[in-house]
Amino acid sequence: MLVMEKNFLQEEIEKLVETFGNSRSALIPILQEIQKKHHYISEFAQQEVARLLDIHPVEVYSVISFYAFLSSEPKGRNIVRLCQTITCDLAGKYSVAKAIERELGIAFGETTKDNRISLEYTNCVGMCDQGPAMLINDKVYTRLSPEKAVEIINEIK
Ligand code: FES
Repeated sequence: MLVMEKNFLQEEIEKLVETFGNSRSALIPILQEIQKKHHYISEFAQQEVARLLDIHPVEVYSVISFYAFLSSEPKGRNIVRLCQTITCDLAGKYSVAKAIERELGIAFGETTKDNRISLEYTNCVGMCDQGPAMLINDKVYTRLSPEKAVEIINEIK
Protein backbone atom coordinates (compact mmCIF):
# COMPACT_ATOMS: atom_id res chain seq x y z
CA MET A 1 0.00 0.00 0.00
CA LEU A 2 1.38 3.41 -0.96
CA VAL A 3 2.16 5.99 1.74
CA MET A 4 -0.49 8.33 0.33
CA GLU A 5 -3.13 5.58 0.40
CA LYS A 6 -2.16 4.82 3.97
CA ASN A 7 -2.56 8.46 4.95
CA PHE A 8 -6.00 8.62 3.35
CA LEU A 9 -7.08 5.45 5.07
CA GLN A 10 -5.68 6.63 8.37
CA GLU A 11 -7.64 9.87 8.08
CA GLU A 12 -10.76 8.01 7.11
CA ILE A 13 -10.53 5.71 10.11
CA GLU A 14 -9.89 8.66 12.42
CA LYS A 15 -13.10 10.23 11.11
CA LEU A 16 -15.00 6.99 11.70
CA VAL A 17 -13.74 6.92 15.28
CA GLU A 18 -14.93 10.51 15.69
CA THR A 19 -18.35 9.44 14.43
CA PHE A 20 -18.75 6.14 16.29
CA GLY A 21 -16.55 6.78 19.32
CA ASN A 22 -13.60 4.78 20.53
CA SER A 23 -15.31 2.26 22.78
CA ARG A 24 -15.39 -1.44 22.00
CA SER A 25 -18.99 -1.19 20.80
CA ALA A 26 -17.78 1.05 17.98
CA LEU A 27 -15.65 -1.74 16.54
CA ILE A 28 -18.30 -3.42 14.35
CA PRO A 29 -19.85 -0.23 12.91
CA ILE A 30 -16.35 1.08 12.07
CA LEU A 31 -15.40 -2.19 10.39
CA GLN A 32 -18.69 -2.24 8.47
CA GLU A 33 -18.02 1.23 7.10
CA ILE A 34 -14.50 0.30 6.00
CA GLN A 35 -15.84 -2.87 4.40
CA LYS A 36 -18.60 -0.95 2.61
CA LYS A 37 -16.16 1.48 1.07
CA HIS A 38 -13.15 -0.72 0.32
CA HIS A 39 -14.83 -4.14 0.04
CA TYR A 40 -12.33 -5.50 2.56
CA ILE A 41 -10.38 -4.49 5.65
CA SER A 42 -6.66 -4.45 4.98
CA GLU A 43 -4.05 -5.39 7.56
CA PHE A 44 -3.09 -1.73 7.81
CA ALA A 45 -6.72 -0.72 8.46
CA GLN A 46 -7.03 -3.43 11.10
CA GLN A 47 -3.95 -2.11 12.87
CA GLU A 48 -5.22 1.45 12.74
CA VAL A 49 -8.61 0.49 14.16
CA ALA A 50 -6.89 -1.48 16.93
CA ARG A 51 -4.61 1.45 17.73
CA LEU A 52 -7.41 4.00 17.84
CA LEU A 53 -9.73 1.81 19.91
CA ASP A 54 -6.82 0.74 22.08
CA ILE A 55 -7.42 -2.98 21.58
CA HIS A 56 -5.20 -5.77 20.28
CA PRO A 57 -5.12 -6.25 16.46
CA VAL A 58 -5.91 -9.93 17.03
CA GLU A 59 -9.24 -8.89 18.48
CA VAL A 60 -10.02 -6.87 15.36
CA TYR A 61 -8.99 -9.77 13.14
CA SER A 62 -11.10 -12.28 15.08
CA VAL A 63 -14.20 -10.09 14.71
CA ILE A 64 -13.56 -9.87 10.94
CA SER A 65 -13.15 -13.63 10.68
CA PHE A 66 -16.29 -14.27 12.71
CA TYR A 67 -18.67 -12.17 10.63
CA ALA A 68 -19.37 -13.33 7.10
CA PHE A 69 -20.00 -9.76 5.99
CA LEU A 70 -16.52 -8.60 6.90
CA SER A 71 -13.42 -9.65 5.05
CA SER A 72 -9.69 -9.25 5.40
CA GLU A 73 -9.19 -10.14 1.72
CA PRO A 74 -10.12 -7.97 -1.27
CA LYS A 75 -13.52 -8.96 -2.69
CA GLY A 76 -15.46 -8.25 -5.85
CA ARG A 77 -17.86 -5.33 -6.13
CA ASN A 78 -20.79 -7.75 -5.92
CA ILE A 79 -20.80 -10.57 -3.42
CA VAL A 80 -22.99 -13.54 -4.19
CA ARG A 81 -23.70 -15.63 -1.09
CA LEU A 82 -25.45 -18.92 -1.66
CA CYS A 83 -27.06 -20.53 1.38
CA GLN A 84 -25.41 -23.84 2.21
CA THR A 85 -27.56 -24.76 5.19
CA ILE A 86 -29.45 -28.05 5.16
CA THR A 87 -32.87 -26.92 3.86
CA CYS A 88 -31.39 -25.09 0.88
CA ASP A 89 -28.99 -27.96 0.42
CA LEU A 90 -31.89 -30.38 0.10
CA ALA A 91 -33.80 -27.96 -2.12
CA GLY A 92 -31.09 -28.11 -4.80
CA LYS A 93 -28.27 -25.81 -3.74
CA TYR A 94 -25.67 -28.02 -5.41
CA SER A 95 -27.01 -27.72 -8.94
CA VAL A 96 -27.52 -23.97 -8.49
CA ALA A 97 -23.92 -23.61 -7.29
CA LYS A 98 -22.59 -25.61 -10.24
CA ALA A 99 -24.57 -23.54 -12.75
CA ILE A 100 -23.25 -20.28 -11.28
CA GLU A 101 -19.68 -21.56 -11.23
CA ARG A 102 -19.95 -22.69 -14.83
CA GLU A 103 -21.39 -19.35 -15.91
CA LEU A 104 -18.66 -17.29 -14.22
CA GLY A 105 -15.77 -19.70 -14.72
CA ILE A 106 -14.80 -19.47 -11.04
CA ALA A 107 -15.46 -21.60 -7.97
CA PHE A 108 -17.09 -20.59 -4.71
CA GLY A 109 -14.48 -18.82 -2.60
CA GLU A 110 -13.11 -17.04 -5.67
CA THR A 111 -13.51 -13.64 -7.36
CA THR A 112 -13.82 -12.97 -11.09
CA LYS A 113 -10.69 -11.48 -12.71
CA ASP A 114 -12.47 -8.18 -13.35
CA ASN A 115 -13.30 -7.96 -9.62
CA ARG A 116 -16.96 -7.76 -10.42
CA ILE A 117 -18.24 -10.81 -8.55
CA SER A 118 -17.12 -12.90 -5.57
CA LEU A 119 -18.79 -16.21 -4.83
CA GLU A 120 -19.26 -17.37 -1.26
CA TYR A 121 -21.31 -19.79 0.72
CA THR A 122 -23.24 -18.54 3.69
CA ASN A 123 -25.34 -20.06 6.41
CA CYS A 124 -29.12 -19.77 6.61
CA VAL A 125 -30.42 -16.40 5.43
CA GLY A 126 -33.87 -16.96 6.94
CA MET A 127 -35.64 -18.01 3.73
CA CYS A 128 -35.65 -21.74 4.39
CA ASP A 129 -39.21 -22.25 3.13
CA GLN A 130 -38.24 -20.64 -0.20
CA GLY A 131 -34.92 -22.28 -0.90
CA PRO A 132 -32.50 -22.51 -2.50
CA ALA A 133 -31.78 -18.94 -1.50
CA MET A 134 -28.91 -16.55 -2.14
CA LEU A 135 -27.98 -12.99 -1.34
CA ILE A 136 -26.38 -10.64 -3.80
CA ASN A 137 -25.00 -7.84 -1.69
CA ASP A 138 -28.06 -7.01 0.47
CA LYS A 139 -30.75 -8.40 -1.80
CA VAL A 140 -32.28 -11.84 -1.28
CA TYR A 141 -33.21 -14.17 -4.14
CA THR A 142 -35.30 -17.25 -3.46
CA ARG A 143 -36.67 -20.41 -5.10
CA LEU A 144 -33.62 -20.57 -7.33
CA SER A 145 -33.25 -23.02 -10.14
CA PRO A 146 -29.93 -23.28 -12.00
CA GLU A 147 -31.48 -21.32 -14.91
CA LYS A 148 -32.95 -18.62 -12.70
CA ALA A 149 -29.67 -18.21 -10.81
CA VAL A 150 -27.70 -17.82 -14.05
CA GLU A 151 -30.18 -15.24 -15.29
CA ILE A 152 -29.79 -13.22 -12.09
CA ILE A 153 -26.01 -13.50 -12.23
CA ASN A 154 -26.02 -12.26 -15.82
CA GLU A 155 -27.84 -9.15 -14.73
CA ILE A 156 -24.88 -8.12 -12.59
CA LYS A 157 -22.14 -9.56 -14.83
S1 FES B 1 -31.51 -23.03 5.03
FE1 FES B 1 -31.19 -21.69 3.38
S2 FES B 1 -32.27 -19.93 3.94
FE2 FES B 1 -32.44 -21.19 5.67
